[in-house]
Amino acid sequence: MAATFTEIKEERYASLYLQLQGLIDLNLDLVANMANFCAAVQQSFQFHWVGFYRVIDEELILGPFQGPPACVRILQGRGVCGAAWQRQQTIIVDDVDQYPGHIACSPLSRSEIVVPVFSNGDTNNNASGKTTKHKVESNVVAVLDIDADVIAAFDHYDKIHLERCLALLSAANS
Ligand code: SME
Repeated sequence: MAATFTEIKEERYASLYLQLQGLIDLNLDLVANMANFCAAVQQSFQFHWVGFYRVIDEELILGPFQGPPACVRILQGRGVCGAAWQRQQTIIVDDVDQYPGHIACSPLSRSEIVVPVFSNGDTNNNASGKTTKHKVESNVVAVLDIDADVIAAFDHYDKIHLERCLALLSAANS
């Protein structure tokens, strides 16, 4: 029987996590690890846009990404990225046209997920009742932004798996 969409997604995330465990170097520069993180995600899923915005001087500044050119800076609370930073929580947007204040870097973006990156190897899996690391200090250092060119491309599985993958990056940065 053909695999379901969720089963395919789960398989891809399992393979991505193993790949990231080999790619992310605990002694390497954060930006270099972010660059490889984006390349590995894009190779696994071929999203419209995958990239990081880093928290620099009270703003989100564009970091490593894969996809069309994007806006360079986002203020806290602005757009989906600024909201995820401010709330320190993952945000899933099924239809960006229905999200007040969405920042459209590309007209082809239809749905989006934004996941905060914490500095101390922390994760925000608490919402799932599964904390992989005690939350010591919620210090967001970046957000991972992924845009899809179809409506409702992201769900709870993406949230859980992307948070798990980003914990590898946070651990390298703690
Ligand atoms: N859509 C994001 C802005 C970043 S571009 O999509 C890469 C937002 O609303 O924050």
